[in-house]
Amino acid sequence: MYDEDRTFLAIPGPVEIHPRVYAAMNKHLYGHRTSFFREIYKQCDEKFRQTINTKNPIQFHAGSGSLGLHTSITNFVQAEDHVLNLVNGKFGERVEKITSRFTRNSHSLKVPYGHGITADMVKQEFEKNADIKFVTITHNETSTGVLNPLEEISKVVHDHGALLMADCITSAGGDLVEMDNWNIDIFVSGSQKCYGLPPGLAFIALSQAADERLNEVPRNNDFYSDLLQFREGVKKGDTPFTPPVSLFYGLNETLDIIHEEGMDKRIQRHRTMGMLYRNAIEAMGLELFAQPEFRSNTVTTAKVPDNVDSSKLSKVMLELGIMIAGGQGTMKGKIFRIGHMNLVGPRELLMIVAALEIALKKAGANISLSSGVSTIQQYLADQ
Ligand SMILES: Cc1ncc(COP(=O)(O)O)c(C=O)c1O
Repeated sequence: MYDEDRTFLAIPGPVEIHPRVYAAMNKHLYGHRTSFFREIYKQCDEKFRQTINTKNPIQFHAGSGSLGLHTSITNFVQAEDHVLNLVNGKFGERVEKITSRFTRNSHSLKVPYGHGITADMVKQEFEKNADIKFVTITHNETSTGVLNPLEEISKVVHDHGALLMADCITSAGGDLVEMDNWNIDIFVSGSQKCYGLPPGLAFIALSQAADERLNEVPRNNDFYSDLLQFREGVKKGDTPFTPPVSLFYGLNETLDIIHEEGMDKRIQRHRTMGMLYRNAIEAMGLELFAQPEFRSNTVTTAKVPDNVDSSKLSKVMLELGIMIAGGQGTMKGKIFRIGHMNLVGPRELLMIVAALEIALKKAGANISLSSGVSTIQQYLADQ
């Protein structure tokens, strides 16, 4: 009944996109070395900075979020550098894989999936190894639905004189990220999550300290991702290589939509939607996966009940026209994940939770229909 063109994306990215963004992308293509494109680039830079409260220029890279992570690491990490990766999920593990390609001294602080990483844990790592000069963190670990305390961890990292690279791929643009106030040295995000664009753009911003460090790190043989070339591009208001021009049209539009709502309200909406999802899941009698004090506001993860077949759950959801995500790696079949980024509001929440109850029941769960959806209805009726 629901063909692929109408499947609702409730996965943690790519996300549903505003029709205005599609319309903006469908415009006539201009050359990228023109004042027309440079004006769009300038607007994207200015509007984007406001979403993470930074004075630093934004670099736009043609590729997915992982390119942003890879680029940040290859430009800063050298073969002997001691790097500390803070790892509590699949995406932290990916960063760990990247850093271990560039240095022999890649270390990791690992906590179990579903757990958060605290500033104290990071402090202990510095006490064990004073040579750590570069720390990586996944702000919002999409694979487990954990939001790590970036601001507190950043303080510890800077007390020990290291640089901090933060993967803000599923936090920025939806939840609070304060690049300058939190002292993030290398900010990385991607287009297909809270920013509400199709995949294809990675965003990088460097603090003053990171920018200065860039001058000292010898250039390696990675030409396309050389941040010095991007820094020169930023000065001229464009990119060193041909940019995906249509995605810039879309970015300019989605940033307008973001600012029409207002960042404060947008963050509040994401937090409220997260809270309502969590309440609904628990009211259904299911168990949330992430530790209570570290729960994400953009991705909700729940344990698949014992007697439930997770592939059946996803299949019934798809039959109802909604795509959700399962667990990754060792969590396959054990958890399911729902993304609530960009445009998700009460309407989507009601629809998804109501469908989830049906799908859970059909997949074998012992739940009462309406147990979750009624908590959302009650909240909305009380507003
Ligand atoms: C936290 C996080 N980091 C990295 C990535 C990888 O991004 P991409 O798939 O855009 O390369 C993702 C994708 O879901 C993510 O959620």
